[in-house]
Amino acid sequence: MNLPFRQHVLICTGPRCGGERQSERIRQEFRRQFVRQALPASVKDTACICFGLCTYGPNVIIYPDGVVYSGVRPPDVAEIVRDHLVGGRVVERLLFKKRDPAAPPTGDADPTTLPV
Ligand code: FES
Repeated sequence: MNLPFRQHVLICTGPRCGGERQSERIRQEFRRQFVRQALPASVKDTACICFGLCTYGPNVIIYPDGVVYSGVRPPDVAEIVRDHLVGGRVVERLLFKKRDPAAPPTGDADPTTLPV
């Protein structure tokens, strides 16, 4: 491959990943974590408009690995940076998988499993 960056983090800031889903805050948190965790300049982030996975957003794609994370929230970013970008380990719990769109986003408690 002929990539200009060691790793490239694409963050969807499109209309359905933005707003209440806070994709702009996710991008800001990536930049904060890049500094905090001392990532090299060869790791780059780019805001994108839409990956066509709106139902599952906010979405983040990391290249060259081709890993798609969905339902990402600002507090998840430090883990993605530490485990994936620095440690080379995929964050399994955030991996994109088709799910029932009516299901709560990743990280939300499933109301059917809450104690009564
Ligand atoms: S707006 Fe983010 S995937 Fe469509």
